[in-house]
Amino acid sequence: MVKTAFVTGAAKRIGSVIAEYLASAGWEVVLHYNHSRDDAAALSEKLKELYPDRVFPIFQCDLSVSDAVLSVFNRLPGVIDKIDALINNASVFDPGRIDETSLSFLRKQMMVNFEAPFLLIQAFKNHFGEGSVVNLLDTKIVSNEGTHAAYLLAKKSLAELTRMAALDFAPHIRVNGVAPGPVLPPPRKSADYLEGVIEKTPLKRQVDVSDIANSVSFLLNNSSVTGQIIFCDSGSHLV
Ligand SMILES: NC(=O)c1ccc[n+]([C@@H]2O[C@H](COP(=O)([O-])OP(=O)(O)OC[C@H]3O[C@@H](n4cnc5c(N)ncnc54)[C@H](OP(=O)(O)O)[C@@H]3O)[C@@H](O)[C@H]2O)c1
Repeated sequence: MVKTAFVTGAAKRIGSVIAEYLASAGWEVVLHYNHSRDDAAALSEKLKELYPDRVFPIFQCDLSVSDAVLSVFNRLPGVIDKIDALINNASVFDPGRIDETSLSFLRKQMMVNFEAPFLLIQAFKNHFGEGSVVNLLDTKIVSNEGTHAAYLLAKKSLAELTRMAALDFAPHIRVNGVAPGPVLPPPRKSADYLEGVIEKTPLKRQVDVSDIANSVSFLLNNSSVTGQIIFCDSGSHLV
């Protein structure tokens, strides 16, 4: 029986590699996107050619709109009747210190990075009752760095939710997290920006995007692990 994963933000960057990795491991994957319809459709076509036994449907939802998020699992494509794994990968990463953060800015960062994953985890439990969740976090959750205050507070909250839901939803649903270090420069930032971050990691190594996907896959496959956060970050959380 083929299992199905729902990957948010699957059209590009880390999300697309997670989707490709899971597809190569035999999963059906629902490719969620917001604006990147063409990328999502191209990825779906590519995966269908590689694995013609599966469908790889694309699915649009703006995760900053709570009503849209609440109805996600009521609107799944007809070919998908059950989701076995939810991968909360989509995010917004915008700079702003505490004293620069307006209420609307705070709400946007919290909505996409924390509230939407919260609502999706809740809906996953209520609709399907069993399975596995992996939340994409950030190695910075162990720091109090103030450059992206609202983003970081949302990711810290998501890390706490990961542990709370793991306990609350056991034994039927496992909930884990992956906390990446420097994988890809943020959109609009140069490779030089990333070089500076990589230089500060103990391993002095850019995190390979396939290592993130591999960590997600490990957590989905390991039935004995819940409430765990893998820091896939070249050691950044240690400093
Ligand atoms: N990149 C890194 O080095 C790094 C480091 C630490 C942690 N992380 C975490 O790893 C995950 C993936 O990182 P990434 O850099 O690949 O992410 P990203 O490119 O910044 O964002 C991934 C996707 O999120 C979707 N998204 C944004 N706002 C949305 C909204 N309102 N509704 C629905 N989808 C929305 C976008 O989809 P569309 O394009 O379809 O609009 C986007 O392609 C994130 O959770 C991030 O916090 C990444």
